[in-house]
Amino acid sequence: CGDRIGLTPPMGWNSWNCFAGEVSADKVKRAADALVKSGLVNHGWTYINIDDFWQNHRDSKDQTLRGKLRDDSGRIVPNARFGDMKPLADYVHSLGLKIGIYSSPGPWTCGGCAGSYGYEKQDAESYARWGFDYLKYDWCSYGGVINGMPDNDPYKVGSLSYQGGSDLPTAVKPFKVMGDYLRSQPRDIIYSLCQYGMSDVWKWGGSVGGTSWRTTNDITDTWASVRGIALDQDKAAPWAKPGNWNDPDMLVVGTVGWGNPHPSRLRPDEQYLHISLWSLFSAPLLIGCDMEKLDDFTLNLLTNDEVIALNQDPLGKQATCLHTIGDLRIYVKELEDGSRAVGFCNFGLEPVNLSFSDFSKLGIAGKQKVRDVWRQKDIAVIGKGGKNALQLSVPVHGVLLYKFTVSK
Ligand code: DGJ
Repeated sequence: CGDRIGLTPPMGWNSWNCFAGEVSADKVKRAADALVKSGLVNHGWTYINIDDFWQNHRDSKDQTLRGKLRDDSGRIVPNARFGDMKPLADYVHSLGLKIGIYSSPGPWTCGGCAGSYGYEKQDAESYARWGFDYLKYDWCSYGGVINGMPDNDPYKVGSLSYQGGSDLPTAVKPFKVMGDYLRSQPRDIIYSLCQYGMSDVWKWGGSVGGTSWRTTNDITDTWASVRGIALDQDKAAPWAKPGNWNDPDMLVVGTVGWGNPHPSRLRPDEQYLHISLWSLFSAPLLIGCDMEKLDDFTLNLLTNDEVIALNQDPLGKQATCLHTIGDLRIYVKELEDGSRAVGFCNFGLEPVNLSFSDFSKLGIAGKQKVRDVWRQKDIAVIGKGGKNALQLSVPVHGVLLYKFTVSK
């Protein structure tokens, strides 16, 4: 039952941003080992997700097949870098972690590997038989399928606006097909839809069994990318709830970049802002870096339990921007205990220094304790008997992440 899993946003690692087409069973095992050895496992990081290229593929230049896509009964065949998937899943489970896999609803994935089109049932069964706990389901080549389909193909339906019912629109149908097969497996499998926010996926992703859905195109480790994605999330916020998460894509911290590994090009303050916002957004937290190259700064960013607790808050609300002062955007997330997490986020090119007293704009009234979440320190009491204003100094592209709790 899809609505009973993923009750807080999934946390883990995904192979794409550091390994892409070079992923292998060995690299996946080493990432799992590093997740344990670094101690991240003790802070909620759990999923080890294999992205594209565990399957065989066709050459992008001459289109020749590089290996057998499926066996005679239609079961998908992992490529030689993976071999049998069951021992890999067993290994990851033996570390106390969970494991994820990837496919696309078209005949081909984005990387030109075997997709699930026409084989959704067999694929869902394979994932369950191997012991997978998570599926990321992309979109690539499904559009091509639709254009080349005869009019009477059951997958081809005209409208892009979701009406529900049995006559499902083009963008929804393939996700429903796989969602139904996943749910009929004797195993809980997190279902992550990756169709880039098309057709307002946040409005229907939950109805096809989705646990999360991408709201954006691919993220890169640049300020422009993180900024663009961050500013575009409020539209989907009302649909976030336990078991249904908006996914603004992976965390671009640490050593990223396949083929050209490099430290994230985000500056340190931008990384604080990135992690703060993804926590406020109740976003799935999927580390995209090489786990064997974790530096102290990145490790510290990813192991602050009070920051993670905001992301994992059981109420499952997504922050929205409730107030702006110039380039300072103030995001507020309601928490289960009645507190509010507030991100004072500087998207501008100048530091922001100001005295802030407009708490009512943030839905905050009365006497409140103010805690600096990154520094894990109570910094003030506001309201009756306390201060009337907070002095804020927010660096360029930086953040102050505070928690406001009613104080007696
Ligand atoms: C597009 C997705 O957005 C990426 O995260 C990754 O899964 C690639 N496809 C894989 O081909």
